[in-house]
Amino acid sequence: MKNILITGGTGFIGSHICLVLLNKGYEITIVDSLINSSPVVIERLKEFCKSGEKNVNRINFEKGDLRNQDFLSSLFETYYKKGLKFDAVLHLAGLKSVKESTQEPLKYWDYNLIGTINLLKIMGEYRCTNLVFSSSATIYGSKKDNTLIDEYSLINPINAYGYTKATIERILEDLSKTKNQKWRIASLRYFNPVGAHYSGRIGENPLDNPNNILPIITKVAAGLIDELKIFGNDWDTPDGTGIRDYIHVMDLAEGHLISLEKILNNEFKFIKLNLGTAKGTSVLELIKTFEKVNKVKVPYRYCLRRDGDVAYSVADNSLAKSILNWIPKRDLEEMCRDSWNWYKNNPKGF
Ligand SMILES: NC(=O)c1ccc[n+]([C@@H]2O[C@H](COP(=O)([O-])OP(=O)(O)OC[C@H]3O[C@@H](n4cnc5c(N)ncnc54)[C@H](O)[C@@H]3O)[C@@H](O)[C@H]2O)c1
Repeated sequence: MKNILITGGTGFIGSHICLVLLNKGYEITIVDSLINSSPVVIERLKEFCKSGEKNVNRINFEKGDLRNQDFLSSLFETYYKKGLKFDAVLHLAGLKSVKESTQEPLKYWDYNLIGTINLLKIMGEYRCTNLVFSSSATIYGSKKDNTLIDEYSLINPINAYGYTKATIERILEDLSKTKNQKWRIASLRYFNPVGAHYSGRIGENPLDNPNNILPIITKVAAGLIDELKIFGNDWDTPDGTGIRDYIHVMDLAEGHLISLEKILNNEFKFIKLNLGTAKGTSVLELIKTFEKVNKVKVPYRYCLRRDGDVAYSVADNSLAKSILNWIPKRDLEEMCRDSWNWYKNNPKGF
């Protein structure tokens, strides 16, 4: 059985990927500093094993920070001595707030870049050269003509967070060209992951104030926040609000599983893929859908545009569909229903 190391595995997206891998019979080793997640995730993942729904074999958890090289060295040494070598790494650990990254850029370079370089070094030392990396649509420059963004679109981030992701992709590309190490790498550029596992046992649980729109909408619907601020109603879109490509986190997780298996089969050296649905949804449409499927009210108020926002960001996902033979299956209603179900079952988070 293959042992897969998942950094950031107790986070929102990582926890859903863990579930999908466990379901497929992999052994998983989660590394997370818990800076933005809870250890309860591990208990929840183990529950799936107890309930018999999942073919869970083993879940290992190691608390630690990727910026700490000694921690990483001792992790790899210990696991390899135990005969538990890592067959691949899914690297999700990092910070992800665009706003915070503009206020504290050094923190973002430290967490995202230094953490990644440390990880890549130790992977190289142990000849563990299969990697799936969490990249982001924020690496793309804005498009004036509201057309789909494909993988050949201009890379031109406008904030420190996006720059860290674009820089890491550049490092990965360089690594993939080295002759002495056989790197196999997929860099997956996520659009807007939302939703939760349908069970309501795992979901998005930011420890700080939420920045992503769905956790804010659920808090507004629950009466914990008065209203949703919509930044701009004068964008060049049919209803004037920004259009994004929301993708269900379980579809995203399934995209990781397929990418991982292609890498383990040596099917490519380095690939960059958009993971989105290719369907755009405006903020107003998102609110209306959330209200309709969950029978709740989401009061909102228009505010001025934020710096760095764009009117339209929607993926051309045809490359991922053809290379991975993957299609996102869950629609916007399911995303809204699962997000609310997660919140109702866990109003205080984990
Ligand atoms: N959620 C999104 O909208 C989105 C979009 C595009 C890309 N991404 C990327 O996907 C990845 C996962 O995102 P998420 O939404 O699950 O975020 P998350 O914050 O829920 O998960 C990230 C996890 O990484 C951990 N972590 C952070 N720094 C660490 C470090 N130095 N060492 C060890 N653990 C550390 C955190 O504790 C957390 O559990 C991130 O790399 C993020 O940039 C997310």
